Amino acid sequence: MPLPARYGRWGILASVVLILLILHFIHADLGSSTTQDVIEPTPGLKIETTTNTTSPSPSTATTDHVPSTCPPLPGMENILVVIKTGITEAQDKVPVHLRTTLRCIPHKIIVSDFEEDIAGVRTYDVFQNVSESLKQSNIDFALYNRARSGGHAALTSQDRTKVANGPSGMSDNPGWKLDKWKFLPMIHTARHVRPDAHWFVFLEADTYPIWPNLLAWLSSFDSADRLYLGNQMQIGPNLFAHGGSGFVLSHAAIHAAADYHTANVGEWDDTTDREWAGDCVLGMLLAKAGVGLTWSWPRVTTQSVWEQDMLRDGFGVTPWCHAPFTFHHMTPADVDRFWEFEQMWFAEVSNLFVLRVSYLDDIGAALTFSQTNSTQLTYNEIFRNLIRPTLADHLDNWDNFAPDGDNKEDYKGPKTPASLPDCADFCAADPECIQYRLTAESRCTTSKAVLRGKPAPGTKSGTMLWRVDAAVKRMGQCQEVI
Ligand SMILES: *[C@@H]1O[C@H](CO)[C@@H](O)[C@H](O)[C@H]1NC(C)=O
Ligand SMILES: *[C@@H]1O[C@H](CO)[C@@H](O)[C@H](O)[C@H]1NC(C)=O
Ligand SMILES: *[C@@H]1O[C@H](CO)[C@@H](O)[C@H](O)[C@H]1NC(C)=O
Repeated sequence: MPLPARYGRWGILASVVLILLILHFIHADLGSSTTQDVIEPTPGLKIETTTNTTSPSPSTATTDHVPSTCPPLPGMENILVVIKTGITEAQDKVPVHLRTTLRCIPHKIIVSDFEEDIAGVRTYDVFQNVSESLKQSNIDFALYNRARSGGHAALTSQDRTKVANGPSGMSDNPGWKLDKWKFLPMIHTARHVRPDAHWFVFLEADTYPIWPNLLAWLSSFDSADRLYLGNQMQIGPNLFAHGGSGFVLSHAAIHAAADYHTANVGEWDDTTDREWAGDCVLGMLLAKAGVGLTWSWPRVTTQSVWEQDMLRDGFGVTPWCHAPFTFHHMTPADVDRFWEFEQMWFAEVSNLFVLRVSYLDDIGAALTFSQTNSTQLTYNEIFRNLIRPTLADHLDNWDNFAPDGDNKEDYKGPKTPASLPDCADFCAADPECIQYRLTAESRCTTSKAVLRGKPAPGTKSGTMLWRVDAAVKRMGQCQEVI
């Protein structure tokens, strides 16, 4: 399979685009309080296919009916999946993955700051081989030391604080401060568990993986090359893969990184102490070890499926015909919800293939079906089948995150306090505006993006549905998955 064209463009883009980061919201996600577990089942969810299938109606498909067999995931046997979590969140956020996204994954480990059973799976203490002197001398390890002597009972209410309190993350949150120290030891734990794996995939508990999309993506790379695939981020001069979006290291890369680190542990402890983002420190180490970052947005993203703009460009790329490997900021309820959708979609697709194959056999035609590209779940399909059916022209207690007017001094919208009809009129007058919202302070904000959004008491959201449909029509179907 040829390398997708966008990788060719990255080289040029990389030198031109400087990614200036607003990192506080991107990084303030370990136990973030900004997501809510209140995504209700979607009315009207349906998979659009053109064949006469006799599959059960979508409304009966729930995660209570987990299939007893696993669909084939050829290539997955060569991959180690590593979930990074911590004592303050693991029991809440990891079990849902073990019964959905991770259920059929043959090789997976959970690395944490505390060794415990999570839904029957033993976590690895990622700090096991970190020097005792660092653990005793560095204040960031206070939570770890308390937990290893007293377990869950030793946690204080402050350990559970989830408030993002600064531009550099939750600097008062013990779990968050400890988290940055996990990235380099995690590389060793992963390599130790499965030194021969071709690929190492690193996720967090609020990262949602779509495995068939990962396998298709990785098939265009060679694990003998030093590869570091992830969502490009920058802090100062350092380019790195954002941790919460999920990232991938090849066999060659993880060995290079682990060996390089082993030779300079003390120096990297100093670097980690100085920096505030552990994913950035790992990126620095990889760069020194000769492993460059392959920019991988929108394969991997910082947004949840409800907040991802799928129609418009980012980094010079339009997501529409791309197939995402991850969504981030997915709550346990989001994971269940998207899992249900994903299962149905892939079941329908294979159903469709079976029908097409037998149909073509009957008429003696060549089996051209294998050249269709629908084995990957694209943003296009997600938007049409999951997002679009849930949009309404007006929702109370709902936030679609329309940003324009939020902080702008040159804001030209209706004066605050505005009414929802004022705000709708203002949006309607701008041909590019698709969504609008009235914040709890009765401020009108608008957007050219189309997001499903999330529940938010006091906020009202509106969508110009005919403009959504016109945009979808303009984007069209995807002939090819990029
Ligand atoms: C779909 O089902 C209808 C009604 O059963 C039938 O008339 C039609 O021929 C079927 N179409 C295909 C493509 O099988
Ligand atoms: C931890 O250290 C021991 C002893 O040096 C070594 O055998 C083991 O492989 C190390 N484990 C990891 C995960 O690095
Ligand atoms: C996708 O489909 C198009 C049109 O059928 C075909 O030309 C292309 O080779 C396919 N791409 C892949 C990756 O299968």
